[in-house]
Amino acid sequence: MKIFIAILAVICFSQAQEFFDRPCRTPEELGVKTGFLPNFYTGIWFEIERYEQRFQVDADCVRAEYTFNADGSIRVGNSAFRISTEESLEDVGRAVLSFPDEIPLRAMLNVTFGGDLINRSNYWVLSTDYSDYAFVVSCINLPASRSSESYWLLSRSTTISTAARNRANDLIEKFIDRSRIRVTNQDNTACRRI
Ligand SMILES: *[C@@H]1O[C@H](CO)[C@@H](O)[C@H](O)[C@H]1NC(C)=O
Ligand SMILES: *[C@@H]1O[C@H](CO)[C@@H](O)[C@H](O)[C@H]1NC(C)=O
Repeated sequence: MKIFIAILAVICFSQAQEFFDRPCRTPEELGVKTGFLPNFYTGIWFEIERYEQRFQVDADCVRAEYTFNADGSIRVGNSAFRISTEESLEDVGRAVLSFPDEIPLRAMLNVTFGGDLINRSNYWVLSTDYSDYAFVVSCINLPASRSSESYWLLSRSTTISTAARNRANDLIEKFIDRSRIRVTNQDNTACRRI
């Protein structure tokens, strides 16, 4: 059994993207969550689904662990497993609230990976109840009124509750191209979880 540790520049945040012939929707248009409570958002999240990956990274078993760094920023620990090749993928990033002085606080974060000092609000939580699910999107405007969007549905467990699925479906209906969604394999055996 071969297990490689591949340090990817980004597991989720730039790979899970799709291109659209429209500019980014604004946080207001997307209804980004307000009154965000970062303390309740930290901890472990499992990826349930995301936009299909452009460069066929083909990562499953995707897991994110958010913990506070000493400086108050959030450590973003992403891990995944590529089932076909038995590769373990890991990456650590850093997130800060995009607009920490706002009241009410919007659930918008600037996430960077691998010493990449890009200063961009690129992780927007549209909905979360903190204890069950989180619905997250990102968007970058491109030339010619195009954009690159990302979408992740996260759950506190490797499956998703019916209530969270229903809530996510409402948001998908409004904001996500269902045909581009890739379901993440979180099967315990396939993911080699103990
Ligand atoms: C990011 O850019 C904004 C201006 O758009 C600036 O106010 C802020 O200090 C920058 N943050 C970092 C971490 O460089
Ligand atoms: C986050 O990025 C946005 C630009 O998208 C910038 O205006 C803002 O100042 C950044 N926030 C921090 C805390 O660096």
